[in-house]
Amino acid sequence: MRPDLLRVVGVSKEYRMDGVAFHALTNISFAIKKGEFVAIMGPSGSGKSTLMHIIGCLDRPSNGKAYFEGRDVFAANDRELASIRNIHIGFVFQQFNLLRRTSAIANVELPLVYANVSSNERHKKAKNILEQVGLGDKTENFPSQLSGGEQQRVAIARALVTNPSIILADEPTGNLDSKSGADIIKILKRLHEEGRTIVLVTHDEHVASHARRIISIADGVIVGDKKQ
Ligand SMILES: Nc1ncnc2c1ncn2[C@@H]1O[C@H](COP(=O)(O)OP(=O)(O)OP(=O)(O)O)[C@@H](O)[C@H]1O
Ligand SMILES: [Mg+2]
Repeated sequence: MRPDLLRVVGVSKEYRMDGVAFHALTNISFAIKKGEFVAIMGPSGSGKSTLMHIIGCLDRPSNGKAYFEGRDVFAANDRELASIRNIHIGFVFQQFNLLRRTSAIANVELPLVYANVSSNERHKKAKNILEQVGLGDKTENFPSQLSGGEQQRVAIARALVTNPSIILADEPTGNLDSKSGADIIKILKRLHEEGRTIVLVTHDEHVASHARRIISIADGVIVGDKKQ
């Protein structure tokens, strides 16, 4: 049996506003094996992005633990956590989150700058990944010179360039028309077939239908976990 890549145990997240606690996540536990393609579904405000931020090491839980390949990630200090994130996680956001005054290729190279990869090597890797997402001819375009679907493909290339253990995508098709959305799903499916581990948040049943497992969440609690 394949080992767990990620294990989340009893994770809760509480936001405090004006002294009042809001429980965004309560006692969430699940495990994801290497190579799984998981969709997380649930209504708006149910805690999906909060959960993605925690498993993406962008935020810490109020309670509970997460293990990446057996390592207790939140025992790490902030600097170590940033390094875990840089090495293991490829994040794709609904709003693409590209640097606007920076070419497609420089956006893709950025995580490699943080990883101290030489400029030659960075350029080669970024170009290669952009070719894989069908943007080999648009490497010098700025985000404003790319369509939404193309910008999201740049974001996927940026997520892939460090060869992360897991790809986390929070509504990656949420801002796209159906054709561009379908292109993104095609890329995620191909990555899954190549053995990548993918966790995808979506509202869209059709998008979720491509995943092999659906975790449903409502009011910060897991209410379903089904293989398909
Ligand atoms: N920084 C914050 N401070 C206070 N409350 C927050 C904060 N971030 C999120 N919340 C609340 O936590 C709940 C979960 O938010 P979250 O963004 O995880 O929902 P979501 O499932 O991703 O929703 P959507 O589908 O709309 O993106 C919401 O009720 C939200 O208002
Ligand atoms: Mg969200």
